[in-house]
Amino acid sequence: MTPAELLGLAEKTAREAGDLVRERREAVERMAVAGTKSTPTDVVTESDTAAEALIRSRLFAARPDDGFVGEEDGSVVGSSGVEWVVDPIDGTVNYLYGIPQYAVSIAASVDGVVVAGVVLNPASGELWTAVQGGGAFLDGRPVRVSSCTSLSLALVGTGFGYDAGRRARQASVLLEVVPRVRDIRRAGAAALDLCAVASGRLDAYYERGLNPWDLAAGGLIAAEAGAVVSGLRGAAAGGELALAATPGVAVELTSLLERLGADRD
Ligand code: IPD
Repeated sequence: MTPAELLGLAEKTAREAGDLVRERREAVERMAVAGTKSTPTDVVTESDTAAEALIRSRLFAARPDDGFVGEEDGSVVGSSGVEWVVDPIDGTVNYLYGIPQYAVSIAASVDGVVVAGVVLNPASGELWTAVQGGGAFLDGRPVRVSSCTSLSLALVGTGFGYDAGRRARQASVLLEVVPRVRDIRRAGAAALDLCAVASGRLDAYYERGLNPWDLAAGGLIAAEAGAVVSGLRGAAAGGELALAATPGVAVELTSLLERLGADRD
């Protein structure tokens, strides 16, 4: 399969999973927490696991020899060289609270390099796509990063991990970033934050401690839209600082974050 064909499968699967999670959310006033993961605030709902099971079954039905890395149910090592990196619901806390800012994120990597990615916001219906070298698209129309060239005029997105110690560190970094930028947004779904950079809705986004499933599809989409992307594609779990920014802001923001030690716990 070509990257475009992998993208087609990812898009079809994301739409089906998106319908499932949206319909389940619309069916209840209050969403139940089905369990917790790394901390009591790192939650999982039954929709996360149902959506991941659906995605897994559709991808394996089409391509039984591929590998799979999902947020909820572990990894499968494949033999084809293609691996799917999946977050069934990125922004689970938004989903829990009924905030329409969550995403289904599906990326395909070949020999460890992300070649196709889809991020769908099921609540708004917006769908971002990219294949390596082919540009980035929102609902089929090309998107580009903003023309922002100054950090002081940049709208910067960020996020916080679930671990209290890491959060305290992230807050102390943020204290220094806020006075140096136009403003800060914490929207609550990393995949959508990366797509916001791709679409010029943010000028930059950074966060430490994300996982490959938060980053794989959105990182490709941001890069294909012209963002400088570091620590994203294929990044190891929890390690480095992930950053996506317009070329005019990336150097200034990177050196500020380095100076502040934003890549340390
Ligand atoms: C989380 C979201 C959030 C980010 C967290 C992630 P999840 O993913 O992307 O915006 O700040 O670090 O863990 O848990 O909702 O899939």
